[in-house]
Amino acid sequence: MKIIEDKNFKDLTTFRIGGKIKYYAEVKSESEIKEAVRFAKAKNLPIFIVGDGSDFLASDRVYEGLVIKYTDNGLKFEIRDSEVLVTAGAGLKWDKLVEETVKRNLQGLECLSGVPGTVGAAPIQNVGAYGQEVSDTFYKLEAYDIENEERKVFTKGDCKFGYRDSIFKSKENWQKYLIVSVTFKLDKDGKPNVSYESLKSSVSDGATLQEVREIVLKTRREKLEDPKKIGNAGSFFKNPVINADEKVRIEKEFADAKIFPFGNMYKISAAWLIEKAGWKGKAEDGAAVSPKHALILINKSGQASAEDVYKLSEMVMRDVFWKFGVNLEREVQLINFD
Ligand code: EPU
Repeated sequence: MKIIEDKNFKDLTTFRIGGKIKYYAEVKSESEIKEAVRFAKAKNLPIFIVGDGSDFLASDRVYEGLVIKYTDNGLKFEIRDSEVLVTAGAGLKWDKLVEETVKRNLQGLECLSGVPGTVGAAPIQNVGAYGQEVSDTFYKLEAYDIENEERKVFTKGDCKFGYRDSIFKSKENWQKYLIVSVTFKLDKDGKPNVSYESLKSSVSDGATLQEVREIVLKTRREKLEDPKKIGNAGSFFKNPVINADEKVRIEKEFADAKIFPFGNMYKISAAWLIEKAGWKGKAEDGAAVSPKHALILINKSGQASAEDVYKLSEMVMRDVFWKFGVNLEREVQLINFD
């Protein structure tokens, strides 16, 4: 294991933003994890675990701690009757996992094609897109408990998955576990399950998993910002959950509001709120609200600071609250802010 002292969050995030990192290490085995953890403990430093850096905004300040990246990217298939257990190393690229499962005609992840990031990061925010989410097919994960220096298995129930949420996002558990591998239970020779309205219209009857994957990839290219081309971290905000009274109140004033049922509550489209409030495409210093999709904040100049993005997010949140009385919540995690 090598400790590196000249890394920046800028080099490790899809936003291409963020300050210097005091110590950085890439590890690929349990003994290397242990070594890195002990290094940090001996120096009394905090630890931050990074995947592909596609779901957080790191501040411009120096991070006075150790950043660890786990790189094992193994992939294992275990056949059981009509199902297959697929276990991937946390360092595997998420889309590689989807590609390999679709190739083998395993159903369950096809709508999650093209999501940036690593397998290990996916359960933390319960990644979801086009009607599927990680929790639908999640079976278990293995993590390294940093405090107690031991391996721990989390079942689906243990993870307490919610909308873009899990126990790993809670304050008590944040950065306490390094996810080592994730196991999914997929259907052998399953038929694609397309429930998302805007996807349904472009998927023909009898489409194969591979065809669904291609349609999702195409839709993402058209509708979302590609982090390889312009710095961003996907949806910056969550879609707010509102109750029936709020739904009625908003629809009275805005007949075109995009509101969808969500359990016994409703989800209102954050992209719609932001666009309606006039922010789509608006730039503020180096940052901007994407002109392609209003839920995405972008590093427009390529030189935006974390402060620029943060300031813009605050402006959007304040204005949406002012105009609609709805609180937007960030989906992206803020790292090394106060
Ligand atoms: N819309 C607008 N303006 C826009 C974009 C969209 O009014 O600029 C409207 C659309 O017309 C549509 C509604 O907003 O009626 C929903 O849009 P979309 O289908 O793009 O989905 P979303 O709710 O905005 C969520 C996820 C995305 C995921 C898409 C597709 C969250 C926070 N985001 O976005 O996930 O790809 O659904 O399933 O739930 C991510 O988490 O980083 C992410 C990109």
